[in-house]
Amino acid sequence: MTASLRGFVLRHTVLRQVPGLVEVRLHLADEVLPLWRDVQLETGDPDTGLPYWAFAWAGGLAIGRYLRDHPESVAGWRVFDLASGSGLCAIAAMKAGAAEATGADIDPFASAAMRLNARANGCRVAAVGRDVLDDAPPEADVILAGDCWYEARLAERVLPWLQRARDRGIEVVVGDPGRRYLPQEQLVELATYEVRTTTELEDMELKLGRVYALRPATVPAL
Ligand SMILES: C[S@@+](CC[C@H](N)C(=O)[O-])C[C@H]1O[C@@H](n2cnc3c(N)ncnc32)[C@H](O)[C@@H]1O
Repeated sequence: MTASLRGFVLRHTVLRQVPGLVEVRLHLADEVLPLWRDVQLETGDPDTGLPYWAFAWAGGLAIGRYLRDHPESVAGWRVFDLASGSGLCAIAAMKAGAAEATGADIDPFASAAMRLNARANGCRVAAVGRDVLDDAPPEADVILAGDCWYEARLAERVLPWLQRARDRGIEVVVGDPGRRYLPQEQLVELATYEVRTTTELEDMELKLGRVYALRPATVPAL
């Protein structure tokens, strides 16, 4: 982790308990637009992405609650948290007894936040700071995908990658509050949680976050 990324995250966030998941503490921000502007100034890139890593998103919060209620879904397994942001799902998995967790996110600030957040929770999360969606599925037993369906291009790439992972025997757990590109017809609902986010990000502070498995592959008719 470069010191400047780590320093930036520390200067722009406060370490606090996650609403509804008090066993997890994250470095979180309160306001998105001033932070986004500061990231643009820091990177010199006016097109830099939103600072997703400074917030716990509804899909990730739903996965966190699900893992707390169903630790057996990750306990003892190798977990890969796709689009990890703050590392919320990976950390929740470690708290639920995962053997190891990796978080992947294309935003370098997310890798820094993930490492800081893992340390704040007394666990280890390996950070992968590149786009893995053109790679083969990872060496993992479970993939968590929290709040990945907010953008058409990302959604288009995430589903086939998750399906390839499922076809190799990896369990896939999706968490989402009903984003526009969620492929409902490919999912089987496992649980619903009312999660508290912020009107900085959402239309309402309380959202319904649903947790899903991927629908099994259909066997072609003979
Ligand atoms: C809405 S946030 C969700 C973060 C976290 N899972 C949660 O629920 O709090 C979506 C994350 O996806 C990341 N992302 C976007 N495209 C990606 C890609 N191709 N591979 C990995 N992460 C990606 C973004 O940088 C962002 O951190």
